[in-house]
Parts: sequence; structure tokens; C-alpha cells
Amino acid sequence: MWKLLLLLTVALTTAMKFVDQPPSNNTTVHGFEVDYENNQFLLDGKPFRYVSGSFHYFRTPKVYWRDRLRKMRAAGLNAVSTYVEWSLHQPRPDVWKWDGEADIVEFLKIAQEEDLLVLLRPGPYICAERDLGGLPPWLMTQVPDIKMRTNDPRYMEYVKTYFQQLLVRVEPLLRGNGGPIIMVQIENEYGSFPACDIKYREGLRDIIIRYVGSKALLYTTDGSGTNYLRCGVVSGAYATVDFGAAANITNAFGAMRQYQPNGPLVNSEYYTGWLTHWDEPFQRVSTAAFIKTLKEMLNLNASMNLYMMYGGTNFGFTAGANGGAQYSPQITSYDYDAPLTEAGDPTDKYFALRDALSQYLPMPDLPLPVVAPKGHYGVVGLQPVTSLFDRQARTLAARVALFEKAPTFEELDLPTGVVLYEAELPAGLKDPAIFRADVADRALVYLDDYLVGTLSRTLKIKSLPLPNPYAKRIQVLVESQGHLNFGNLVEDFKGMFNAEIDNKPLKKFNVSAFPLDVVQTVRNFSATTFTSGSQVRGPFILRGLFDVTGQPLDTYLSTAGWGKGVAYINGHNLGRYWPKAGPQVTLYVPGAWLKTGVNELIVIEYEYVPPAVRMVFQGAPNLGRSRMRV
Ligand SMILES: *[C@@H]1O[C@H](CO)[C@@H](O)[C@H](O)[C@H]1NC(C)=O
Ligand SMILES: *[C@@H]1O[C@H](CO)[C@@H](O)[C@H](O)[C@H]1NC(C)=O
Ligand SMILES: *[C@@H]1O[C@H](CO)[C@@H](O)[C@H](O)[C@H]1NC(C)=O
Ligand SMILES: *[C@@H]1O[C@H](CO)[C@@H](O)[C@H](O)[C@H]1NC(C)=O
Ligand SMILES: *[C@@H]1O[C@H](CO)[C@@H](O)[C@H](O)[C@H]1NC(C)=O
Ligand SMILES: *[C@@H]1O[C@H](CO)[C@@H](O)[C@H](O)[C@H]1NC(C)=O
Repeated sequence: MWKLLLLLTVALTTAMKFVDQPPSNNTTVHGFEVDYENNQFLLDGKPFRYVSGSFHYFRTPKVYWRDRLRKMRAAGLNAVSTYVEWSLHQPRPDVWKWDGEADIVEFLKIAQEEDLLVLLRPGPYICAERDLGGLPPWLMTQVPDIKMRTNDPRYMEYVKTYFQQLLVRVEPLLRGNGGPIIMVQIENEYGSFPACDIKYREGLRDIIIRYVGSKALLYTTDGSGTNYLRCGVVSGAYATVDFGAAANITNAFGAMRQYQPNGPLVNSEYYTGWLTHWDEPFQRVSTAAFIKTLKEMLNLNASMNLYMMYGGTNFGFTAGANGGAQYSPQITSYDYDAPLTEAGDPTDKYFALRDALSQYLPMPDLPLPVVAPKGHYGVVGLQPVTSLFDRQARTLAARVALFEKAPTFEELDLPTGVVLYEAELPAGLKDPAIFRADVADRALVYLDDYLVGTLSRTLKIKSLPLPNPYAKRIQVLVESQGHLNFGNLVEDFKGMFNAEIDNKPLKKFNVSAFPLDVVQTVRNFSATTFTSGSQVRGPFILRGLFDVTGQPLDTYLSTAGWGKGVAYINGHNLGRYWPKAGPQVTLYVPGAWLKTGVNELIVIEYEYVPPAVRMVFQGAPNLGRSRMRV
């Protein structure tokens, strides 16, 4: 029966295609190309300008994809741009994920159904403020001295397999095959990477072209300066630039013209807002400045992509970090001050954008979006379950083993989470003794289970006095705050390096590796002794139940007053919280992850549990103090 249905569907689809296309053998019916003479794009042979918006499918639950895409179309956009996150699709060297939340093909099909063209940015490196810029951290385990983002053949072998897996899936959706994909980007702002490896860029181009041919336009995106473009462009790909509202667009497009003398002007990342790190104000871009520069570009007939039109969330441990002078991890929210909020609600910026675009582009006949109602689920009391140092919590560890030298997370095959390094204190220590280590990225140090201090990569705190040299054991709990996603360095090993006490190397560790990506077994743990305040015997796991009546709605979990940790709803990891650093205080909770009836909240608090052991589900986000950049 199902076979018959399938046949029918195929027959219908084929029939519909013929209705859609004139019955001619004309290969230019579907296509996307550059008309260099008239400085314009041609879509299916006709002059065309795109105004696209970035929306990354991996930052929002699948059930919301269509809603967000429709709202983008309703604003007047005619295309969507998405990165493809390699680490999502190949979480382990031998595991591929293309279904469920990783169903990129479904996302592209929905985009087409919602009347949007697609600009695909498959990487392999994507930056995107994601852990390791979307590269799978296991690359560093497979080949410890790998040179990612270069023509290192050991890296390129993995890239080839990834591209092959991805591109055969999206090939039917290229414009030349009647699909929505008009452009495919090679790498990402490669001109900002010091390797400047032309063989690498050409290698990527040659792999991609095997699948894409001329059925979509290849392009590159770089910062709007010739110093960036120099190492970013590759022959055979259309060179474009990116810049924000504060830019002098004459100069910015002038840089593009140095490398792309003819063809339409393109800003591939016009910033609607900006990214935010922990311990800084939430970054905003004013609507007035955003609209002013937008109109200047539209007046030049430029095509553009708004980065981000809809940001979403870095759920779980997917947020990345910036490096350079200071290691700066990014917050869990990727709201980005975009026209659509983290929850997909329209803002004043959204309506101002729509007004502006309506002066340049035909508007679709779609209802204007409204702000969706939110759940005010109130206070949830949390019951302490167990310390992470407790014997029963070791079942949460992926691995417990002895090592002579402290292993990295990568050597432990742990992409993220925390690692506990335990060692005997050497005899005959001075009073006090000094402990020293380089940690990536943050470590809580304990003596016989008592917290004695914190080491921090960000703050360059590498040593502390041991107030109790009579203790038997030192325990160092190291947290990965996210692999670097930008800068000179890509390979960013996590863990504890060069540990020593009074200048003598510390050796022989009992190591427990905790992924903490999902935590589902704690309901079977027996409760252990607990006091609120600073967590002495390691991070504490807490659990609370709460009721939702009626249709579940989006809500925000306030972590105000808590220390630093991670929260889970019904088995979904909402991401890291750290209200003391801020600015973000609430975690976005998609209604799709709640259910009518009893719901479960699990919290792993690393540092401090406030006296009132509870959290609050509120109807509005609190992203903290903000700063207007432009
Ligand atoms: C289209 O043209 C190609 C090459 O000229 C030819 O091989 C093919 O049979 C034609 N297809 C149809 C449906 O006419
Ligand atoms: C294909 O069709 C387009 C639009 O109908 C027309 O402009 C173009 O000249 C045709 N090309 C060929 C090779 O027939
Ligand atoms: C942009 O820069 C050019 C050259 O540096 C300058 O002539 C022009 O006035 C600037 N435009 C604006 C709007 O500042
Ligand atoms: C923009 O395109 C229109 C229509 O083709 C043309 O008349 C106008 O001169 C173009 N403007 C610029 C600045 O290129
Ligand atoms: C290592 O730690 C685990 C968990 O606490 C414990 O069960 C095991 O006995 C320890 N091994 C050694 C050699 O200390
Ligand atoms: C937890 O306990 C329930 C019943 O109390 C049992 O069905 C389930 O398998 C247990 N889960 C684990 C991971 O032990």
C-alpha cells in the first residue's frame, strides 16, 4: 500500500514540475548566474537582487523552522542563508546524523515551500560563534597534530567525506535542478585566517564544484578590506564582503571592487546586531543606524544577507569562544539583537525592516507576525540529589581511569563537559604550598573535597596557595567553556597542563570524564547530604518537577542568584548559565520541549546554590545590561 502511495506521490510531483516549467529543453530555465555586463544577478535568466537573512537550523528546534522562515518571508526577504554545522552531522568519526533536528534537507525544502531561495554555507569551518567553529573536536583526537583549515591531507580526507555526504543530499535542491539553492559559499572569511593557504581554498572549490557544477553560484565572503580579501578569494568563486551599519559603504564596497571589478555588489553579512560574550554588556545595534545603511546599500542595487535575521540559541555546549589577547566564551543566547528575537518574536527592528524593504521589493501576501504568548510557570523548588564527586554520580562519567600525566579532553575523547583530575598530595609540603597549572578553560580546586580556589584562562589566574597542606588529595575540576571559533588558532585542546606544586610536577591522576550533554539517570540516585551556599564536595545535581496546564508555551528560566552551571528540561540541555558574569540571566525554554502535565528540571550547579533552593519560569527574557554599539 505504502509503495503505491509513494508511486502516486512521485507521479504527482513530476506532473507538478511540468506545470511549473515550460515543456522545453532549455537548460537556462532554472539557474543562477552573474551578469557581469550589467552588474546584476540573473535568476532563471531574469535580473534579480536578493535580500536574504541568516537563520541557522541548528539553533532552533525543528518544529519551529517553518514558523521562523515564514516570518522572514513576511518581512519581505526573498532568501535565507544558513551555515551547515559539520560537528552536528558527524558527531563521531563513524556516526552520521541527517534526520530529526539534523535534517538539513527538510529545512531547505521548507524554505522553498515558504518561497525563499537559499544561500548555503557548508564550511567546513563556519565560525558562527559555535564550538570550534563547527569543526568536529574529534579531528584533534584522530590526528593530534592536525592543521585544520589548511591543505593538510589528513584534514582534507575528512573534509572530502563530509562534503560528499552533504552535497549528494543537497544536489537535487540546487537551483539548476529546480531547487532553492542559488549560492554555495567556500569556507568562511578565510582571509581572516593567517594560513592564507591558496591550495586549501582551491581544493575546497574543486570538491564542491564536482557536486554543484554550474547549478548554483560559488562565492566567498570576507571582511571588507583588501587585507582580508587577499587571502579569501579563489578563482571561480564570486568574491563578496561583509560589514555592519557603522561602515563607510563606499570604502567597504570599494574593497570588494578591487577583487570583483564587475558584477553586483554584495554584503554577505550585514550585521543586524552583534554577538555577546560572558562578562560584558549585551551587544545591540540601533534600528535607526541599521535602516540607514540598509537603504544606502539598497540604493546601490546591492544584494545582501542580514546576519542574523533570527539568531536562536546555543543550546547544550554548542557556544564557542573568541581568543587572541583574552579567551572570551560566548553566552548561551544567540538573540543577537536580531529583528526576530530568540523566541522568534518580531521586534520594532523587524517592522522597520519590512517598511524599508517594501520601498524596494514586492511584498508577499502574508499576515504580519505577532508576539507569541509566553508561559509564566512560576517558582520551581529544587531537591538536591547528589554531588558530582559522590560515588553514584561516577555513573555519569563516560570514562574513569588512571593516568601518569594529565590527559586532555581530546585524549579522553570528550568533546565538552567537565573533567575531574584527582591526585595524592606529595608528602612534606610547605605551609602554605603553591599549586600552579594552565587550565582550559576554568578550574575549581579542592583539597580533600573542600573548595580552595578557582583558576581561569580568561583572567589568566594560574596559581593559588593551598591553605591546607595536611590534606591527602587535590582535586581539580576543569570545565570546557567552548572551543575557539575564531582567530589564529583553531586547535584548542582542553584540560589541565603543566600542573605543579611548589615547582614540582604533579603526577598520577585518577581521571573522571563527564560529558554532561544529557543527564537522564539522576532520578534513580539516592539523595545525599547537602547544604546551600558554596558547593564544597563538588558540583551538585538538583531536580525539580513542575506542572504545565494547557498547551505548553515558550518560557524563560531565571537563574538569578545561582552560581554557574547547566540546566536541563525533560532531557534537553538548555545550555550554560552564569548570572554572576552575565549579562544573560534567563535561559530560553522552547515550549516544544515542555509537555502538558508534569515536567522535569535538572540543574548541575558547579559553584553556589542560593539559600532558597529554587528557580523561576518567567514570561520575559532577562539578557542583562546592554550596550548600543552603533
Ligand atoms: C535535451 O537536449 C539534449 C542535448 O541537446 C538531448 O540529449 C536530450 O535528449 C534533450 N531532451 C529532451 C527531453 O528533448
Ligand atoms: C531559454 O529560455 C530563456 C527564457 O525563456 C531565454 O531567454 C533563453 O534565450 C533560452 N535559451 C536557449 C538556449 O534557448
Ligand atoms: C567614506 O570614505 C570616503 C573616503 O575615505 C570619504 O570621502 C567619504 O566622505 C566617506 N563617507 C562618509 C559617509 O563618511
Ligand atoms: C539600479 O538599477 C536600476 C535598474 O536597472 C538602474 O536604473 C540604476 O541606475 C541602478 N543604480 C545603480 C546605483 O547602479
Ligand atoms: C578512581 O576514582 C574512582 C571514583 O572515585 C574510584 O572508584 C577508584 O577507586 C579510583 N581509583 C584509584 C586507583 O584511586
Ligand atoms: C531508573 O528506575 C526506573 C524505575 O524506578 C527503571 O525503570 C529505570 O530503568 C532506571 N533507570 C536507570 C538508568 O537505572
